[in-house]
Amino acid sequence: MTTPSFQHVLIIGATSGIGDHLARTYHAQGKKVIATGRRAERLAKLKEECPGIATYQFDVTDSFALEKSVKQILKENTNIDTVVMMSGIGGIDIFPEGVDQQAITSQVNTNVIAPMILARVLVPIFKTIETPTNIIFITSGLGYIPLSLWPIYAATKAAVHTFALVLRQQVAETPINIIEIIPPYIDTEFDAHAREKMLKILPNARKPTPLDEYMEDTIKKLEERVDGKPLKEISFGFASMGHKAWRGAFDPIFDQLGISSA
Ligand SMILES: NC(=O)c1ccc[n+]([C@@H]2O[C@H](COP(=O)([O-])OP(=O)(O)OC[C@H]3O[C@@H](n4cnc5c(N)ncnc54)[C@H](OP(=O)(O)O)[C@@H]3O)[C@@H](O)[C@H]2O)c1
Repeated sequence: MTTPSFQHVLIIGATSGIGDHLARTYHAQGKKVIATGRRAERLAKLKEECPGIATYQFDVTDSFALEKSVKQILKENTNIDTVVMMSGIGGIDIFPEGVDQQAITSQVNTNVIAPMILARVLVPIFKTIETPTNIIFITSGLGYIPLSLWPIYAATKAAVHTFALVLRQQVAETPINIIEIIPPYIDTEFDAHAREKMLKILPNARKPTPLDEYMEDTIKKLEERVDGKPLKEISFGFASMGHKAWRGAFDPIFDQLGISSA
């Protein structure tokens, strides 16, 4: 069955950057959008500027709130066909003196544990739906090409890449699509607190890709279908180098093992 374009989309982490852009674009395209985040004033602004968008406020690192909120949202919006796990944090972590325990636990809780809890909530619910549904995880080029300043962040995104890949194999016989978006360095608030520090250490660091340019490409790729299904992974620029190298190396291994769903 051909997957319809995502029509009713829950975006977890839509108060800024990539999630905010996706929410506004999908709303402008006439799709039904539900946006979440911690910052109430940003959610209120989104609602005011995009009439019809529904918003919910919760912190994804509170596992109980995440599970309860997502179940509640799905109960109140039974037509949701796509959930995007956008929320993520990162920082420059130079071991040992530049890293406190909080940096480790908050990145792992936000970037790894929350997507896993979300999947645990979503999969049984989506399995009861006969039409195609989509669970979208956001990793990073750094999950494929780990670089020196981001040991914790790169590891969290590599973990989610592996998790998404294995989850896709587990739901292969269902209409659930597991999609991984792999952004390169994008100009958002994401690293606003760390950009100055990065440029001091790496004065010749790559410039971030403008958000509009990145989103135009990514939203187009989200509409692409192969054999009626969305792309398994969507990457851009620097991230594509790592993604393509990984697929080039691992597809023959999965073929040999007979795992076409990976
Ligand atoms: N920008 C980049 O260079 C880049 C590169 C590769 C991958 N990524 C990934 O892309 C995703 C989006 O990043 P972005 O660039 O758009 O950054 P951003 O502008 O900082 O947006 C992050 C979003 O995540 C939400 N969030 C963070 N922690 C949360 C929590 N504990 N509970 C609920 N929501 C939380 C934020 O909402 P509140 O603060 O309101 O909670 C915000 O909506 C992230 O997963 C990031 O790792 C970004």
